Amino acid sequence: MDNKRKELKVSAIRNGTVIDHIPTDKAFQVIRILNLEISNKQIYFGTALESKKFGKKGIIKISDKYFEDEEINKITLVAPSATLIEITDYEVTKKEKVHLPEYVDKIVRCFNPKCVTNIQGIRTRFKVIEDYNGEMKLDCHYCEKTMKKEDIDFH
Ligand code: CTP
Ligand code: ZN
Repeated sequence: MDNKRKELKVSAIRNGTVIDHIPTDKAFQVIRILNLEISNKQIYFGTALESKKFGKKGIIKISDKYFEDEEINKITLVAPSATLIEITDYEVTKKEKVHLPEYVDKIVRCFNPKCVTNIQGIRTRFKVIEDYNGEMKLDCHYCEKTMKKEDIDFH
């Protein structure tokens, strides 16, 4: 009985996408950046769930939704540890860890108010880099300023 209770998870979905292994403090942010508050899809959401690998994790399951590259890039920037799982007719049909792209286009705003992308409303472009500590950063293609993770703001 006790074992069964421990394994109890958020309900299975028939078709759609599961975002698993979200750092538990990032789960609400993932909901927000994907605009899931205004979605009419069936969504299951859990935070601070027990996880063997992560201690605590968040999970989001969205029925009848398969993410585009831009959405996947947003998830990756906020939750680099996430796993994306596609479900078709209750079966797992695809499962992969997200990975940072080489460039991030359009989805992120430059934090420099003087950047041409803010003044002229030009589509943004950033090169994804790692600093000497292995921290992910974004280099603006236009103003050459470097943004830290905390500076990232999505369009
Ligand atoms: N899942 C789901 N609906 C389904 C099938 C799977 O919501 N019809 C979810 C499971 O709850 C799980 C994830 O998709 O969170 C991955 O499923 P699966 O690979 O079957 O689970 P595990 O082997 O437990 O995966 P892991 O150990 O990687 O967490
Ligand atoms: Zn810039």
